[in-house]
Parts: sequence; C-alpha cells; structure tokens
Amino acid sequence: MAATRLAASAPTPAAPRPETVSRPIKPLPAHLVENAATTVKAPFDPAIHVDFMPPKAVVMMKDIGLEGHGISPVAASEPFRLFTDDAVRQFRAEIFSKPVLDNCQVSSNLAPNMIRAYAADYGPFAYSVWHHPKVLDIISNVAGVDLTVAMDIDVAHINVSVNDEEVCIAEKNTATGTGTKTAAATATATQTPAFAWHYDSYPFVVVTMLSDCTDMKGGETVLRTASGETMKVRGPSMGTAVVLQGRYIEHQALKAWGGRERVSMVTSFRPKSPFLKDETVLAGLRGITDLSLLYHQYAEYRFQVLETRFGQKRRQLLESFRHADADARKFDLQGIRSFLDEQRQYMEDMLKELVPYPY
Ligand SMILES: [Fe+2]
Repeated sequence: MAATRLAASAPTPAAPRPETVSRPIKPLPAHLVENAATTVKAPFDPAIHVDFMPPKAVVMMKDIGLEGHGISPVAASEPFRLFTDDAVRQFRAEIFSKPVLDNCQVSSNLAPNMIRAYAADYGPFAYSVWHHPKVLDIISNVAGVDLTVAMDIDVAHINVSVNDEEVCIAEKNTATGTGTKTAAATATATQTPAFAWHYDSYPFVVVTMLSDCTDMKGGETVLRTASGETMKVRGPSMGTAVVLQGRYIEHQALKAWGGRERVSMVTSFRPKSPFLKDETVLAGLRGITDLSLLYHQYAEYRFQVLETRFGQKRRQLLESFRHADADARKFDLQGIRSFLDEQRQYMEDMLKELVPYPY
C-alpha cells in the first residue's frame, strides 16, 4: 500500500519557548510523594489493572467538518473507563518516586510542572501498560486506526497542577457562607484555558486522568470545527481516558477548578502501519525534552519506517521480475517514481525537524 498525504500538511503546533530543558521552580507538595510511597509496587497485569468500558459517544472528523483529514475518521472520544484504581495507584507510585522526580521533572512557559520521558528508565509499569497488545488494541479500536506508541519519550507525559491556593479560597468561602461568590468564580474559572489553542505534535493522544475529580469543575477539551465553531468534550475522571486526533484538530484544554491536585497522563501515538501518513513534528517537544534523546528516537523510528517501506518495495520488484507473465515483469516506472517522491517528502519532513536548536 502506498503512503498517502493530504494536499496541505497539518499546521505546526505551539512550541514552548525554553532553549534548554528547565526544572520547575517550586517543588511539588510533599503529600503527593508521601501518598505515592505507600503503594506496594506491582508489575502490570491486564486482568488486574485494565477495566475497559467502550466510550458512550465518539466525535467523528466529519462531525467537525474535517472529513478526510488526518489518519482516521475518529476525532475524539468521550471519556471511557480504561484503568482500575489499582492501576492509577501504580502509575502515581512511579510518577512521584525519587528517581523520576530527580531526573524527569520539567517546566516551560506553557506548563510549570511536567514529568516527561521517565517510563523507559524509571517507569516499568507505565512502559508495560502502553506497550501491551491489549491496551494498544483498545486504543486502536477507539481511535479507528491501528496505533503504536509514537516514541519512548512520550509513553507518558505527566501534567501536574496543584491548586492548594484555590482550595484554600474555596474552603474559606464555604466557611464564611459566601457560596454564591464561589459558584460565580467557578463559572469563570471553568471557561479559562489551561492550555491555549493548539495542535499536538503527534497524530493521536490518549489523556488518562490520575486524580480524583469528584469535586472538580471544568477540565474539558474544546475542539474548533472547520467552520470556526467550538465543541466541548468532557474531561476524563479518575481511571478514565479520552482519545484525541490532536495533530489535526485545533483544541484547547479548559482549566479545572476545585480539586486539590490534577495529575493527567498524556500518551502519544503514531500509526502502527509504516505505510500510513505520519506528520509527527517536534515543535512542541524541543525545549522540554533532551534534544539528543528526542532526535535519536525520532530518527530511529523514521529510519525503521523507511527500511520497511524500501524492503517491501524491493521484494515487490524481485517478485515482479521473476513473474512468468511478461506484463507483470514490466518495470512500473510511474509507480516507482511516485513511491520515491513520497519517500523524498518523508525525508524532507525529517530534514525540517532535525535542525540545530536553539535556532
Ligand atoms: Fe493538545
């Protein structure tokens, strides 16, 4: 199967500004670390840790005027149950462990507290979860296309926001009977973006919630339709996930309000088939990822894709050359030229990404 491309490629995502990876200024509250330390670590077992219930609704690309864009007809799912509470505890035990906090916390102008690129070295549970065939099957079914983890650095990107100040204000207002004021403040806060309008770097993301959202308001994802209107998709609650074709849909995350903390896990995916279009870009990743590691993993997977494509093409050439039928033996000049054109474009895309940084 030949790789296909849209006439116009997907827009460049918003990029964080740091020139080198920086660490958060404010340490995370001790209770996150202390609670995580009480969990007895266990290896991933789908029978214990996966609790899948299909999403009740899925927004299709055609519903938002983007039919034919991207790599799947699916735009975004409603939150669906994916993990048990046990699994959430295991994720959190890894995220808030000492080696992860010592080595993998990052900060940027877009988000003050992130934990990235930890799974391959310090997160065997998260790593096993997102590489497990059962989990990949579930995600692929919801996404409407077979997916694989994009790169090991994005097996799990964690966004942490701590609302100690807001909790104090909410508690104070409740105690002094100014409940109406709190409700009004909540209404405003839930319309405020936590992340501004953007496109993602990877074709698909899965956002899994690792916090109890019972007392939380907001946290929705807003999608922009082709005609410029907006559509809200509910944010996930603890143990549930949403699937989003974020590379092709402009979206923003609304601020969540009212909870003590909000820990979400973003796992990024690319198409499993090396023959499908893959417009992964690195704009959103430089500045928050060690550049050498980022370029290494990007180049490695792209080379693998090229190797598979060229390997298959070579086998086809050999087969056709040996074919008994004279017509089938004929060299497919147009087909081979068009294949080479696609590979040239794929490599040009790589040349645009693999650049010195800071620019
Ligand atoms: Fe996003």
